[in-house]
Amino acid sequence: MTIEKHVPSHKVSFPQQQCYASDSVLVIQQSLGLQGQTELVGAKNAVLVIMASLILTEGISVLKNVPYSDDVIQMMQLLQDLGADVCYKPELHELTVDTRLLCRHKVKPAIMKKMRASILVMGPLLARFSKANIALPGGCIIGSRPIDLHIKNFEKMGVSLHVEGEFLTAEVKKLQPQYLVLDYPSVGATENLLMAAVAVPGTTHIVNAALEPEVMDLISVLIKMGASIIIKPPATLEIHGTRQLYPIEHQVMYDRLEAGSLLLAAAVTGGSIDVPQAHWKSLDVFLLKLEQMGHYIERGPDGYGVRFIATDDPKAVSFVTGPYPGFPTDLQAPMMVAQCLASGKSIIHETVFENRLLHVRELQKMGAQITLEGDRAYITSVDELYGANVISSDIRASCALVVAGLAAKGTTVMSGIQHWRRGYEALEKKLMSLGARISLETADKIS
Ligand code: UD1
Repeated sequence: MTIEKHVPSHKVSFPQQQCYASDSVLVIQQSLGLQGQTELVGAKNAVLVIMASLILTEGISVLKNVPYSDDVIQMMQLLQDLGADVCYKPELHELTVDTRLLCRHKVKPAIMKKMRASILVMGPLLARFSKANIALPGGCIIGSRPIDLHIKNFEKMGVSLHVEGEFLTAEVKKLQPQYLVLDYPSVGATENLLMAAVAVPGTTHIVNAALEPEVMDLISVLIKMGASIIIKPPATLEIHGTRQLYPIEHQVMYDRLEAGSLLLAAAVTGGSIDVPQAHWKSLDVFLLKLEQMGHYIERGPDGYGVRFIATDDPKAVSFVTGPYPGFPTDLQAPMMVAQCLASGKSIIHETVFENRLLHVRELQKMGAQITLEGDRAYITSVDELYGANVISSDIRASCALVVAGLAAKGTTVMSGIQHWRRGYEALEKKLMSLGARISLETADKIS
C-alpha cells in the first residue's frame, strides 16, 4: 500500500489519520455561536462497502472523496492483506485500488476485531473465490450486533458456513440466485448479499432491503461495474447477476452524518452555518425535527446545500430512530444533546441498536437530566450543561460528547478518541474553523 507522501513501494504500513498518543484526549471549551461555511468529506459508511465491492473486479479502480479516517485505513489494510495494491493520496482524498493480484480469501483477525464492517468482504470474496475465511467481527460496543441475517441468506444462496473458535469459514460450489427475504432491513446484510448476487448469473431478489443513501451509493457503483439492479417499491432489490464485473471510477457521496453533526454543533451553540455539500434529501426527517425545534433551515437547489440558523429558544422534540428514511440512528446521540438543552421534555426511542445509549451516562456527568428505560431515554431539559471528564464508547457517542462540550460551561475532556478518529476525518478542525475551541492533548498534560 502506498501513500503519496511516502516512498512508493508495494507494502508500506499505513499510519493512523493523525498521530496521537494512546492517552490523547480532546479538550473542548464552551464555544458559543459557531459561524461560517464548511465542507464535507466522503461518507465513511459508503466508502467502506464500496472498497469491499472492488474485490468483485480485476483491474484498477479509482475512488474520489475518500475520507482519511481510521476505519477507512483499516479497510485499505484489509484489501492490501488480500493482495490488492492500494495507493491513497490523502490531500486529494483519492484512492486507487488494483485488484488484479488480489489472491487471498482470509481476513486477519486483527483487522476484523477492529472494524465490524470487515464482514462486508464476505459476499465479494465468495463471489470471487467461492470461499471466505474471516474472524467474527468487532467494532463499536453498541449491542450484540449479530450477523445472522447475513449467514441465513448466504446459506440460502448455497453457502456452507462453519465456525471454529473465532473463525467463520464460508464455502460454496456455485452461488445460486435466490428469493431472499430479510427479517429486518439490515444495511450490512443488504450490502453483503447484494455484492454476492451481482456476480451470480440469474435473478436474485432481496425483499425488505435497506435503502439507506449509502446502500444507494453502492448500487450506483455496482451498476457502473456492469450489474443490473432494479429497485422495486417498497423495498425490493431485483438483481440480474453477471459473471464479469469491471473496475470503476467513482466519487463517493458526501457524508450526511458529518453534515448532521455539524448542524447539531451549530444548534447547541446558537450558531449559524452553511454546508453547501450537505444532501438535504437524505436527511429529511432529521431536518424536520430541527425545524420542529424552531431552528431555521434553508435548502439549496438540486437537493444540495443547507443554511442553518439556530433559534435562541429551541423547543424539545421527541423522535424514534429507524431504518431509512426514518431518523438515522447515527445522529441519535448528538441530537440527544440538543434535546437536553431545549425547553421542555422529550423521549428518544432507539429502535435500531439495543445498546446505542451509552453516551447517556456521560451526558449525565455533564448535568443532563436523562432517565433510561430500556431503549427509551426520557429527557428533561436543563438550562446548562457543565464541562466534565467523559469517555466515548463508540463513534457516534464521541460526536455527542464533543457537541455537548461545545455548549457546556467550562472545559470538557473526552477520552476514547480512537472512536472519534475511526469515524471522522479531523472533524475537530472543521469545528475549529467555525469558531470551536478544541485541542488535542495528552492526558498527563491536563491532569
Ligand atoms: C450500518 C452502519 C452504521 C449504522 C447502521 C444502521 C456501516 C459501516 N455502519 O451498520 O453506522 O448505524 O448501518 O443504519 O455502514 N442485525 C441483526 N442481524 C444481522 C444484521 C443486523 O440482528 O445479521 C441487527 C443489528 O444488530 C442492529 C440492526 O439489525 O440492531 C441494524 O443493523 P445493520 O443495519 O446491519 O447495521 P450495520 O450494517 O452493522
